[in-house]
Amino acid sequence: MGAAPILLTLLADTAALSASETKVGDVSLGDLAANYGTPLFVYDEATLRARCREAASVFDDGVAYASKAFLCGAMARLAYEEGLCIDVATGGELDIVLRSGVPASRIIMHGNNKAHNELERAIAVGVHRVVVDNFHEIERLRTLVTVERPLHCLVRVTPGVEAHTHEFVRTGQEDTKFGFSVASGDARRAVAALNAMPGLSLHGVHAHIGSQIFDVAGFRESLTILATFTRGDDFDELCIGGGLGVPYVEGESAPSITEWGTAMRRAARDVGLDASIRLIAEPGRAIVAQAGLTLYRVGAVKASALRTYMAVDGGMSDNPRPVLYGSGYEAFDVAQPMATRPQSVRLVGKHCESGDVLIDEAWLPATTGVDSIVATPVTGAYGYAMASNYNRATRPAVVFVADGRAREVLRRETFDDLARLEV
Ligand SMILES: Cc1ncc(COP(=O)(O)O)c(C=O)c1O
Repeated sequence: MGAAPILLTLLADTAALSASETKVGDVSLGDLAANYGTPLFVYDEATLRARCREAASVFDDGVAYASKAFLCGAMARLAYEEGLCIDVATGGELDIVLRSGVPASRIIMHGNNKAHNELERAIAVGVHRVVVDNFHEIERLRTLVTVERPLHCLVRVTPGVEAHTHEFVRTGQEDTKFGFSVASGDARRAVAALNAMPGLSLHGVHAHIGSQIFDVAGFRESLTILATFTRGDDFDELCIGGGLGVPYVEGESAPSITEWGTAMRRAARDVGLDASIRLIAEPGRAIVAQAGLTLYRVGAVKASALRTYMAVDGGMSDNPRPVLYGSGYEAFDVAQPMATRPQSVRLVGKHCESGDVLIDEAWLPATTGVDSIVATPVTGAYGYAMASNYNRATRPAVVFVADGRAREVLRRETFDDLARLEV
């Protein structure tokens, strides 16, 4: 057995392969590894911009990029420039987006346990929306919102939909920490409480049913429940959340953002949602995942009777998804991307954990070995965003590439960075 060369469809839109080189944004990945070191996150700006534009054109104004998938100032500005709002889920994300220069009026604040000071700042800077999650938050808002200090909100509801995805990223079912249940009557009570609050404008409902979802049926079901629930309310906005999946490995396929949005528009028409109600969403992964890849340098290869271990200079600290969710990835050698991949290896990191596995069974060219630069595609979402300093690893640099040029948007951490919190 063995694998064919890496599928071009798993790479960024501008990826170009030749016998001895891989380019993204007309920049050689081998050169990037040499110039910036490894591990390195590389994002194709053209892909990022194209995905943002798709979302902005298929949904109504107010559609957001869910910055939890990958956030830095450059990413926030890019999504804003392409017409999206930025969805943040913590005070830290809010702070980075504000520092990036994106106006507060384009920021949507989420969170299932927003602290008093997080809400206070969101209101003080004048965010576009706060998505209200629970009754304690409503009580906190009561002490903060006044006619002089107004707030525009959505209310997060749980529609009771079981999305077909990993249980850790499933959020629309009844048994969840997020939002107000429609079935129990809590959602209706929350709407009444918010509508009665002076200074607070409730624009509509929001639901997020989960992540890495390939089938639009769950979204359709959720939208139908939201539309039915709000019939008779004087709302002007309905948000179906994020969660659209992306293919990570050969054999997977997902609707495009345009197909997803088009299906949602059709579902809205079918259920009789008033055409004046803005239909919005907040994709994260579908915007950034395929635009990004990670470059690693191979440092050690160990053959055993059972398998070959190939160790790279990163691991679970820059991509915890395989450990958290058992997520699959592919790998290829950037210096021979068109070669067949007959070599089966377990691609592992450099952390002191047996579980530090990036790819359980990776297929690589026969000659890939120590000092080769190996890329794992589709790491643009929840890779850097979930990166840690485990084993005091320094987080990788991030570069954006476009039109033959690379720009560093996040520098590599140094040992001084690691030491800066010592007191
Ligand atoms: C409320 C909310 N919106 C949007 C997203 C983005 O999801 P995805 O990256 O799967 O599109 C998430 C992810 O956890 C979320 O919790």
